Amino acid sequence: MLDFGVASPYSQGQRHTEHNREDIVIKSVMFKEFLRNPRITGAILPSSRHLSNAMTAGIGIKTARRIVELGPGTGAITRHIIRKITPETKFLAVELNPQICEEFSKRFNDIKIINDSAANLRSILANEGLHEADIIISGLPWASFGAELQNCLLTEIIHSLAPRGVFTTFAYIQGLALPTAHIFRRNLDRRFTTVHRTPIIWRNIPPAVVYRCHK
Ligand SMILES: C[S@@+](CC[C@H](N)C(=O)[O-])C[C@H]1O[C@@H](n2cnc3c(N)ncnc32)[C@H](O)[C@@H]1O
Repeated sequence: MLDFGVASPYSQGQRHTEHNREDIVIKSVMFKEFLRNPRITGAILPSSRHLSNAMTAGIGIKTARRIVELGPGTGAITRHIIRKITPETKFLAVELNPQICEEFSKRFNDIKIINDSAANLRSILANEGLHEADIIISGLPWASFGAELQNCLLTEIIHSLAPRGVFTTFAYIQGLALPTAHIFRRNLDRRFTTVHRTPIIWRNIPPAVVYRCHK
């Protein structure tokens, strides 16, 4: 399904320049969308490869058959997901911002992205014939969401996960002291059987922790 091993017609130097140009475009898209709607976008920059690696490690991604990503943005974590999944895996992304969806589709034209809110996750999955996911990977900016929206989203997530399914998400450390971050953590503890928090991933702007939660 996804073959990134195709020989490139460009020299290594050209590929490097292309990569840098694309990197700048991706970063400027996130920045622009952040200025337009900081609470929903939640980040000035896409996640680093270190955070993306932590988000996709230790969750059984290679053997999962149904994976959903919420809030993929410009695809920083998506890139790591698609490297690890098999062609048999059903993978779906759900993104609220239509401009970001458009940017995403330019880069990942063989990945299905639904332009909708994760608050509608159960009906989105039903429409896609998925019903349940083995893994839900979220880039949603939880600390900027109020308690009501957090509750609504987590209810959708828990009901969309298969038995023993895994939910993984991150939190920026500067937001961990916010009341909304405390509410989120309590919500995770209440709804999931186990919640593991990784050490701080310093090589991300801003530094972050990852939560791995088992249903
Ligand atoms: C912090 S960015 C993360 C982007 C990317 N995953 C990364 O790590 O670089 C959060 C993303 O979640 C999206 N988002 C916010 N609320 C959402 C919702 N209710 N449903 C789906 N996506 C949402 C935003 O538009 C944005 O693209």
